[in-house]
Formats: sequence, C-alpha cells, structure tokens
Amino acid sequence: MMNQPLAGKVALVTGGSRGIGAAIAQRLAQDGAAVALTYTRSPQKADELAQVITAAGGRAVAIQADSANVEAVRNAVAETVNTWGRLDILVNNAGIATLAPIDQFSLEDFDQLVAVNVRGVFVATQEAVRHMGEGGRVIMIGSINSDFTPLAGLSVYALTKGARRQFHPWSCP
Ligand SMILES: NC(=O)c1ccc[n+]([C@@H]2O[C@H](COP(=O)([O-])OP(=O)(O)OC[C@H]3O[C@@H](n4cnc5c(N)ncnc54)[C@H](OP(=O)(O)O)[C@@H]3O)[C@@H](O)[C@H]2O)c1
Repeated sequence: MMNQPLAGKVALVTGGSRGIGAAIAQRLAQDGAAVALTYTRSPQKADELAQVITAAGGRAVAIQADSANVEAVRNAVAETVNTWGRLDILVNNAGIATLAPIDQFSLEDFDQLVAVNVRGVFVATQEAVRHMGEGGRVIMIGSINSDFTPLAGLSVYALTKGARRQFHPWSCP
C-alpha cells in the first residue's frame, strides 16, 4: 500500500492510448488506481496498453470516445463508473493541434479544435464531477503554447490551451 497511494481510487484519462496520456494512465495504474482510458482511432494501441497494465497487476479498460462527441464523452464517464464503481480522478489529456496561418485557418478546423480541446474538456469535467466525492481531482493537460507560441500557425491551438488553463472547475461549487 505504501507504494500504491492511489489504491482504491478510479481514474479516467482522455486520450490515453498513446503518448502523454498513455504514460499518465500507466503511472496512475502503477500507483494503484483502476484506470479507464479513451481513444478515437487506435483501438489496438488502447487495448494493448490496457493489457500491459493488467499484466502488471493493475486494472484498466479502454473506451472508444471521441472528445468532440458530447454523448461519447458522457458515456465514457458513465462506463468508467459502471466498470469500476466510482470516479476520483479525471485527466483531461486528449488534445489535437492544427497549424495554419490565421488568414487561412478554416472554420471547420477551428470548430474541431474547440470541440476536442475545449468543449470535450468541459463536458468530461461536468459529467465527472457529478460522480466525484471528497478529494476528487480534475487534472488539465495544457501546453506551454498558451503562454509562448514559438511556431507560426499555432495561435488557434494556443487559444484552446489557454481556455483549458483558465478553466478552474474547483472554484465553482
Ligand atoms: N507532445 C507534446 O509536445 C505536448 C506538449 C504540450 C502539451 N501537449 C498536450 O498533451 C496532450 C497529449 O499530447 P500527445 O503529444 O501525447 O498526443 P498524441 O501522441 O497525439 O496522443 C493523443 C492521444 O489523444 C487521443 N485523441 C486524439 N484525438 C482525440 C479525440 N478527438 N478524442 C479522444 N481522444 C483523442 C489519441 O487517441 P488515438 O490513438 O485513438 O488517436 C491519443 O491517445 C494533448 O492535450 C497535447 O495538446 C503535448
């Protein structure tokens, strides 16, 4: 138990099939949490990660849920609670980046970035906090780009990451 500070806790990591989200999911599981991880296009990677976690003695389930799809996000929260019985930690990790000069940035790309990087975070958080009790945690994976944008074309991505950074659900009862 000393090495598993999150024993008995349940975590949901959005975009947990690859990259940073996969590393977060693994660490949460290593620390004792049962983990649900979402993905969109990589069922194999998501299932493999869930198997790796399970083989290491942890508990994990992969759930297909596009963060741009409100119902899918709500269902992912519900499936997490149905599978593991509770929800203590939400990691808002899923995020996409589209780069283009502002005068060429399409509204479709703008709407998609906002849907995944901002609205998906709001919906997941809104749904998750309804299940969280004392000590619940909502973790936002932002980006340094919300403060500094070293590459041309990153301004809309930075905008969405700035919104995520400024979203403080814990300040709203
Ligand atoms: N990499 C960096 O240098 C960096 C730096 C600062 C911040 N970040 C932020 O950290 C987070 C993770 O970045 P990363 O580099 O690890 O990303 P990544 O390697 O591209 O992995 C993205 C993860 O999000 C999932 N995903 C993509 N679109 C999704 C959607 N619409 N709904 C649900 N899940 C979706 C992917 O699932 P599939 O496998 O199914 O596609 C994958 O699991 C992002 O929020 C990113 O903005 C990254």
